[in-house]
Amino acid sequence: MEPTSVIPSIGSKELVAWLPTLLGLGPDDHVVLPRIAYPTYAVGAVLAGCRMTATDEPEQVPDASLIWINSPGNPTGRVLGAPRLAEIAQYARSIGAVLASDECYVELGWDAEPVSVLDPRACAGSHEGLLAVHSLSKRSNMAGYRFGFVAGDPALVAQILEVRKHAGMMTPAPIQAAAAAAFADDAHVDAQRERYRARREVMRAALRAAGFVIEHSEAGLYLWCTRDEPCWDTVAWFADRGIVVTPGDFYGEAGERHVRVALTASDADVQAFARRLAG
Ligand SMILES: Cc1ncc(COP(=O)(O)O)c(C=O)c1O
Repeated sequence: MEPTSVIPSIGSKELVAWLPTLLGLGPDDHVVLPRIAYPTYAVGAVLAGCRMTATDEPEQVPDASLIWINSPGNPTGRVLGAPRLAEIAQYARSIGAVLASDECYVELGWDAEPVSVLDPRACAGSHEGLLAVHSLSKRSNMAGYRFGFVAGDPALVAQILEVRKHAGMMTPAPIQAAAAAAFADDAHVDAQRERYRARREVMRAALRAAGFVIEHSEAGLYLWCTRDEPCWDTVAWFADRGIVVTPGDFYGEAGERHVRVALTASDADVQAFARRLAG
């Protein structure tokens, strides 16, 4: 395996939003993002003035400069298996595109095993052209610390570092020390994962009993569900019960009949969620 490099970011959101700019992309470049996606990939393309296409088939964009994937995905909880990651990595290399993989939910697999694009099963023994983005916000519940990192192809990471240090995008040393402690400890991640797993069981059962179909959601912090009606009708139905869910059209037109339900409420609120859906 070739060497890999890593640098911290100030949470992963700013890295996602600035990556096209940090890579020197501009109006002649084309950014690919998932069909139903966390909105910040598009923000990054807009900030750099790039064209963009939302598709889960990056192979259909032959002039792509940067391809974003997100597995497990927000909002769908969809997992791309190692064979699919390998296909996309090979395609990105074949057209000279950077493949950036947002893996901030990678430790939260329920019915599927999420894999990093830097895993030998996905990268075919080379990190060339690949970047993996990760965060402490989900695995360690440390969103307020604003710590993320990007790892992968040393040449790409060196380029990103060069721009970031001159733009003042450094992570404060105390936060880096806290992050090192968090990454050195797996026990808190295991405990947090079991907490989410238990909440997910209660919420899944309640949603299904209330007539919802849950799609994907095999990993990550969300249940992506539908009653085959416009998402804002579903949002209103939940609001009548004092529950906030996210309308699927926030993540792209393809989400217009789904809502995203987060597993991040307290245990007491998760029990209340189940009672209100039943009642
Ligand atoms: C897919 C995805 N990427 C990145 C982020 C950014 O998280 P943070 O900036 O806290 O690391 C989020 C947050 O919700 C997310 O869902």
